[in-house]
Amino acid sequence: MSHLADNYKRRKISFLKGKGSYLFSSDGKKYLDFLSGIAVNTLGHSNPKLIKALYSQAKKVWHVSNSFQIPEGEILAKKLAKRTFADKVIFVNSGAEANEAAIKVARRYFYSLGKPNKNRILCIKNSFHGRTLANIFASGSKKMTEGFGPKVSGFDHFKYSDIKSLKKRITKKTAAIFFETAMGESGIKVHTKKFLKEVKKICKKRDILLILDEVQCGIGRSGKFFAYEYANVKPDIVPIAKGIGGGFPVGAVLMTKKVSKCMVPGTHGSTYGGNPLAMAIGNVVMDEVFKKGFLKNVRKNSNYFFKKLNDLKKIYPKVIKEIRGIGLLIGIKVNVDLGNFINKLTNNKLLTIRAAENVVRILPPLNVKKREIDQALKILNKVCSEY
Ligand SMILES: Cc1ncc(COP(=O)(O)O)c(C=O)c1O
Repeated sequence: MSHLADNYKRRKISFLKGKGSYLFSSDGKKYLDFLSGIAVNTLGHSNPKLIKALYSQAKKVWHVSNSFQIPEGEILAKKLAKRTFADKVIFVNSGAEANEAAIKVARRYFYSLGKPNKNRILCIKNSFHGRTLANIFASGSKKMTEGFGPKVSGFDHFKYSDIKSLKKRITKKTAAIFFETAMGESGIKVHTKKFLKEVKKICKKRDILLILDEVQCGIGRSGKFFAYEYANVKPDIVPIAKGIGGGFPVGAVLMTKKVSKCMVPGTHGSTYGGNPLAMAIGNVVMDEVFKKGFLKNVRKNSNYFFKKLNDLKKIYPKVIKEIRGIGLLIGIKVNVDLGNFINKLTNNKLLTIRAAENVVRILPPLNVKKREIDQALKILNKVCSEY
């Protein structure tokens, strides 16, 4: 009997090591890893620059507490601010924590303006923001909240990408509109530029903050550093995690100066958040993602991958219903049993993961090579031909 709790349905594979886009299992098999620990391993496995940063920082200092200056965190925050809408950053350890902190910031902002009742958060029905109590109730998902009552109140919901439904749910109490710029877990659904621009307009008009969850679609995954850049909208708060640590747990909330002013000493904190070890690694990931040509290459590989996947869809319309996504956040909506399809891919040494709406999620490392994409396409072709 395993003493690990049964809250995961784990595949019966374990890995001894990883290199680039590949994972090597304990039974001697080599897998193409196109799920990247669910959009985490931005630079693949065992990246020499990340290993160097980890070793080098490990020999200096791992952890000190946020009651001291942390120069590595100053540097990372400065890099993030220089490249994005943000002026201020709070570091945490995970996506769920980043989202909770984002909700706190939005509420505290209006509280600090003398509007404590402007505290409701408007989210998308059946979305995903993590597994903490507030986040599951933010998701508006029956499945995720079942058995975890009493309900955490303060969240309202609108229908995915439906401006009419969104407008209907706004009240004087709405503090923030909060959703993923491109939705991962919920089925790889990308909001149109028009929708994002419209939401921003409404936020401005109604004095509402815009929180864009870029935990999964951020840090280059969309082909831009942040997915919202495609629509040229400016959010007020952006929670991030996953890709920024490249495999080391790092999360953050990015904010404008105006909004961040309310976060005075004592309003938020985290023991580990932003510790020197995490920051040393985050700095290297940032430097790599912002190297000249890195994001352009993500877009180039993405265009190639999407074109070839759409070709496959034409060949196997009975198996593939739709190709969705943006950048290297890719979804294949299948007409067949999802678990069975993913198992077949796994048996053929291609690792992927499910998303809602019968979608296979494909998340290669952002530095994936074209020949690795070709290898994945070959496996996908083979599996589709078996139906
Ligand atoms: C969009 C989004 N937000 C938040 C989270 C939660 O992140 P974490 O699992 O690091 O808490 C996830 C995780 O999948 C996510 O995809």
